[in-house]
Amino acid sequence: MAFDIEMIKKVYANFGPRVEAARKLVGRPLTLSEKILYTHLWDENTNTSYVRGTDYVDFAPDRVAMQDATAQMALLQFMQAGRPKVAVPSTVHCDHLITAKLGAEIDLPAANTESKEVFDFLASVSNKYGIGFWKPGAGIIHQVVLENYAFPGGMMIGTDSHTVNAGGLGMVAIGVGGADACDVMAGLPWELKFPKLIGVKLTGKLNGWTSPKDVILKVAGILTVKGGTGAIVEYFGDGATGMSCTGKGTICNMGAEIGATTSTFGYDESMERYLRATNRADVADAANEIKEHLTGDAEVYAEPEKYFDQLIEIDLSALEPYLNGPFTPDLATPISKMKEVAAANGWPMKIEVGLIGSCTNSSYEDISRAVSVARQVAEKGLTAKAEYCINPGSEQIRFTIQRDGFMDVFNQIGAKVFTNACGPCIGMWDRVGSEKQERNTIVHSFNRNFAKRADGNPNTFAFVGSPELVTALAIAGDLSFNPLTDTLTNNKGEQVKLDEPTGSELPANGFAVDDAGYQQPAADGSGIEVLVSPTSHRLQLLDPFTPWEGSDLKGLKLLIKAKGKCTTDHISMAGPWLKFRGHLDNISNNMLIGAVNYFNDKTDDVKNSLTGEYGPVPATQRAYKAAGIGSIVVGDENYGEGSSREHAAMEPRHLGVRAVLVKSFARIHETNLKKQGMLGLTFVNKEDYEKIQEDDVIDITGLTTFAPNVPLIIVLHHTDGTQEEFPVNHSYNAQQIEWFKAGGALNIIRKQVKS
Ligand code: F3S
Repeated sequence: MAFDIEMIKKVYANFGPRVEAARKLVGRPLTLSEKILYTHLWDENTNTSYVRGTDYVDFAPDRVAMQDATAQMALLQFMQAGRPKVAVPSTVHCDHLITAKLGAEIDLPAANTESKEVFDFLASVSNKYGIGFWKPGAGIIHQVVLENYAFPGGMMIGTDSHTVNAGGLGMVAIGVGGADACDVMAGLPWELKFPKLIGVKLTGKLNGWTSPKDVILKVAGILTVKGGTGAIVEYFGDGATGMSCTGKGTICNMGAEIGATTSTFGYDESMERYLRATNRADVADAANEIKEHLTGDAEVYAEPEKYFDQLIEIDLSALEPYLNGPFTPDLATPISKMKEVAAANGWPMKIEVGLIGSCTNSSYEDISRAVSVARQVAEKGLTAKAEYCINPGSEQIRFTIQRDGFMDVFNQIGAKVFTNACGPCIGMWDRVGSEKQERNTIVHSFNRNFAKRADGNPNTFAFVGSPELVTALAIAGDLSFNPLTDTLTNNKGEQVKLDEPTGSELPANGFAVDDAGYQQPAADGSGIEVLVSPTSHRLQLLDPFTPWEGSDLKGLKLLIKAKGKCTTDHISMAGPWLKFRGHLDNISNNMLIGAVNYFNDKTDDVKNSLTGEYGPVPATQRAYKAAGIGSIVVGDENYGEGSSREHAAMEPRHLGVRAVLVKSFARIHETNLKKQGMLGLTFVNKEDYEKIQEDDVIDITGLTTFAPNVPLIIVLHHTDGTQEEFPVNHSYNAQQIEWFKAGGALNIIRKQVKS
């Protein structure tokens, strides 16, 4: 499906020499992760050996993937760059905006009506700028990427945290915000802190009820939701090569649940089989030619403790199936202990719904193993006790499993087949009765199980397991059921035991699909119009931000002095606001409404110093903007932590805030502010935060000689006529100062493209 074999061949042509150069530079054998990172440095001629966990490095990813929710602002921004086409192969996948309720046949047309303008915009902007577009119903981004685009040794970024799924095909694939995707599509480098490395050595072989899912559920139990932060998890060992490519994808997918930057596996025969089965024999042939470079060096895997920052070993032969949850994916309980643990914690034992599929577990192997369990309902005279739902990962998977008769088996146990989309996994599940907020238990093969994630009900206890275990539990309807040891009573009153699941890694008759749902972009998009209605509430074309006026900023109002935690969620709240993520002016009505005002301890209640009255933050800022007066936001420690949401930087910029002055920044947010042409400043002396008073008029001086490592000056004009001044730091390099002067990074690219 239009994967770019020429691009892949180009990457591979230089791979060997670049790995060799990196090995010399670093002075030791290399892990796979390091090989991929060093072969994707922006500066090919670097002679720096980077310090893991410390150095910030510019990379040149091979691909960009975007889902429909995050793609909107990424592409609206990309349009600002003025390029005729994206700089690297990119795709858009419509999977997040489809509510699961009655089944695909009804839900998909409903979504196509409800979000028509968003889908039309994404289709037209993709068509114009050379971006592959996957229509609603075509599938879930990560499954479609694995089936079509992922390739061993490649580097990809994607605007979704489970982009990491592509590590199953030997990539370094990383979830980012829309601003990063925009930069890479516009031809800019992409910056990442050089990750630390966690090695996971897999020995033995999976057997019986145990599946790849149980590997990551076990790892999550060991490392917890924070244990992978800032690190790439690299799996190796005979246990790794003995498992399917799609199983590796599942393991990498849930690397997001341990906070890992990404996870990856070395190229092996399972990947070759998968590439050939998915119509990419030429990629497999190309990978085979350099296969010694597409895995870690032998010395590394022989003595891993010398080369990884942390090492974990798991014997797959002894691994038990796990069920993780509720409310967190790292609460790992082996199925043999669940009865006892659930009783001790008072978790509701009756299982209401079992759900399989999602981007995490939609492979042919997953579904065939689940079907081997489901089939036993009829064979052994059982009745499935819980509801059962399926979210196929792609149309190709759905079509193939339908052809192979699996859907008939699922239908026999009353399964509901939702659209090939995220649905319940992202909370887009219109579950009957969830508004009653009753305590209940569900089991699913997705990745996340935080409170409210699936159905919005904080009292839904969600447990994560393999599709085959989820199926067994849905049949039993009982959380304490262990299919390895327990029996079920069948319709004749007999005790029967479920047989171990069996399945096929790949379909014996190959994959098939009628209409995959792909739109190839126009070869020349110059005449194509991007569809955005001027009266739309959900989409708005962006205007370039104005350049710096060339003088110091004087007479700024204090918009808010935020107290304590101020995350990107406080700055640009999610939930109901997400529907406006493609409309900067409308979403700006959530700006800083979650931040606590230092002067009255209230949220969304600040003083308008033009009128003396208190009111919402966005309305107050709009009043300053209307009066042509700039403002400043003051914040506490780690301001802007949380997500890479670019709206948190764009909204203040759009509404006329000129600077954000804080005790410390979360780095990604600080960079996002810089990209938007904002001033992000930090107190030299953190106590100066106390000097700022509610009615101060504020100047920022030193801008006419703005230079790296030279502090700027803040001057406070208090209402009593006194004045105080103090220095503030900034971390702008020469390039970033140019961004500030031009009014934003994209303004510079646009100028370059024109000239
Ligand atoms: Fe979608 Fe859930 Fe995956 S939201 S992308 S199916 S993690």
